[in-house]
Amino acid sequence: MLLLSRADIKQVFSMKEAIEADKLAFKMFSQGKTEVPLRTQIVAEKQNGTFLFMPAYAPELDAASLKIINIFPDNIDKGLPSAPAQVLLVDGETGVISSVLDGNTVTQFRTGAASGVAFDVLGRKDAKEGALIGTGGQAASQLEAMVCARDLEVVRVYDMNFERTTAFAKRMAEELAEYGTKIVPASSSDEAITNADLIVTVTPATSPVFEGSKVKAGATVSCVGSYQPHMQEMDPVILERASKLYFDSEEAVLSEAGDILIPLEDGTITKDKFTGDIGNVLLGDLVGRENEQEIIVFKTVGIGAQDLVTAKQIYDLAREKNVGTEWS
Ligand SMILES: NC(=O)c1ccc[n+]([C@@H]2O[C@H](COP(=O)([O-])OP(=O)(O)OC[C@H]3O[C@@H](n4cnc5c(N)ncnc54)[C@H](O)[C@@H]3O)[C@@H](O)[C@H]2O)c1
Repeated sequence: MLLLSRADIKQVFSMKEAIEADKLAFKMFSQGKTEVPLRTQIVAEKQNGTFLFMPAYAPELDAASLKIINIFPDNIDKGLPSAPAQVLLVDGETGVISSVLDGNTVTQFRTGAASGVAFDVLGRKDAKEGALIGTGGQAASQLEAMVCARDLEVVRVYDMNFERTTAFAKRMAEELAEYGTKIVPASSSDEAITNADLIVTVTPATSPVFEGSKVKAGATVSCVGSYQPHMQEMDPVILERASKLYFDSEEAVLSEAGDILIPLEDGTITKDKFTGDIGNVLLGDLVGRENEQEIIVFKTVGIGAQDLVTAKQIYDLAREKNVGTEWS
């Protein structure tokens, strides 16, 4: 069994490859080539925590996986990660566990890449400005995916914690210098999004993080954060203004994401507003962007197929390049 740490994964895998891995995952998911039961959530009330178990199987890849990602917000006071995670990769021919991969790194790659796929497939080709709301654990890979998908002049970042906003913008300007995009802090979310062609929201917010009326025509919004029925980052106004609404998995989104469930419940939108899963756009079965003026929304909660395809590709590359630690 191969143990793959964060450093090992970063040595063999890039955001560009992660975007391709997610494209394959979304296509396979839409073709019914993956078995992805809805994830199991178990609440640990005593510790204010949630265990999340995410299984997936793809016969065509001869691989299965199980990601365990546990949300324990109080860990921050114990100096521990608030979302500890690992991915187990299983050999589909023998059932033998072939690898344990650092779950945070896999999650960051595949979650950033989901927005990367959306921007690549649905974003305006001439997109020049980006906005990122939220500068926590998932933000760096969201930002990299955005600048990987389009050649942007500037990305404005905003977090309700301004100290974190400025520190993040400075750090990312250095880390992503090779892309040549200016990364600057914004003093409000509306300032960040007003001129943006590409927008990511990646926060655990329970009320909208920007004003939907300020989003400009032609923008593509990737909404990453909300994964429980009470969570909502997106101003429903944006859903009313959007001409198309895509998902990673409509079924998964409808089982958990307040961003869609709340406006459905209060009648702001109906299911007629749903366009479908992005995998079907990639397969050519569903229309994507049709003009430069339409506002398009992509809602992702993350599906096991992304973890599986991403982990399998990292594992294959690590084997090829002799990277990782053998455990027997
Ligand atoms: N869609 C997916 O596949 C996927 C995968 C992983 C995580 N997530 C979700 O994404 C969200 C963010 O994850 P993270 O690990 O980066 O969280 P985090 O706790 O590390 O960071 C969240 C950041 O959002 C900021 N924030 C909160 N409310 C805000 C608001 N109203 N305006 C601006 N900033 C605000 C916080 O200050 C913090 O810096 C979580 O809800 C997480 O569950 C989704």
